[in-house]
Amino acid sequence: MSTPPPAIHVSGLRKSYGKLEVLKGVDFSVAPGSIFALLGSNGAGKTTVVRILSTLLKPDAGTACVAGFDVLAQPGRVRESISLTGQFAAVDQILTGRENLVMVARLRQVKNPGGVADDLLRRFDLTDAAGRRVATYSGGMRRRLDIAMSLIGDPPVIFLDEPTTGLDPEARLEVWKEVQALADSGVTVLLTTQYLEEAEKLADRIAILHQGTIIVSGTLAELRALLPAAKAELVERQPTLEEIFLAIIGNKEARV
Ligand SMILES: Nc1ncnc2c1ncn2[C@@H]1O[C@H](COP(=O)(O)OP(=O)(O)O)[C@@H](O)[C@H]1O
Ligand SMILES: [Mg+2]
Repeated sequence: MSTPPPAIHVSGLRKSYGKLEVLKGVDFSVAPGSIFALLGSNGAGKTTVVRILSTLLKPDAGTACVAGFDVLAQPGRVRESISLTGQFAAVDQILTGRENLVMVARLRQVKNPGGVADDLLRRFDLTDAAGRRVATYSGGMRRRLDIAMSLIGDPPVIFLDEPTTGLDPEARLEVWKEVQALADSGVTVLLTTQYLEEAEKLADRIAILHQGTIIVSGTLAELRALLPAAKAELVERQPTLEEIFLAIIGNKEARV
């Protein structure tokens, strides 16, 4: 069997804001149905990549394809194939959870908006809170509603820009569970995160964006293999992604 074409393919992507060169040639591919974590510190350019992939921002150079469509040549087709959940919840606080979902379902012109809303409320454990204003929801419930809203219309590719930033640990676990369920249902997920643990827990592949390029990418096992084997300690311990990250950045800067 041949490998299916990537759900996301990025090559030589560059972007500057004025004199600030944020992306200096970014390359990566994401296999369909997988979870890909773009990991980087604050200001690394993660949101810039996501905005380019979701056609909100034009790159200065390079190409990007999402679901087989070029972001510059076929932006409409790209937009039909994706959903984007930003760092800050996009839900309307005045409306109830159900009203938010029905509103988006109507905007996206799906059949049976009420039924679609009720299914999503069930799936995201929000049925009991469906009739309450979102203003009364916890951070985790809001983020779950946000992700539920992004699924309306069944987009094959989902961008989650820092889905758990600002959430407490319990809410973070709830979101992780939903993201995993998405990928299990065949959706391709690109998430950005500053949390090494999040990438470690969720992602099939991880790419570290640092000073404008992907300095390393691979599975967690491949990233671990970049470090010397764990020394036999009293209890054998695998290096954490944080140790790998720091070692790689340290190595890179040592060479400059
Ligand atoms: N519209 C903009 N104009 C000028 N600078 C920007 C703009 N958007 C982002 N930046 C800068 O570009 C860098 C990367 O930003 P961003 O992509 O938001 O990073 P991240 O999402 O990884 O935190 C940051 O230094 C940020 O301040
Ligand atoms: Mg960001």
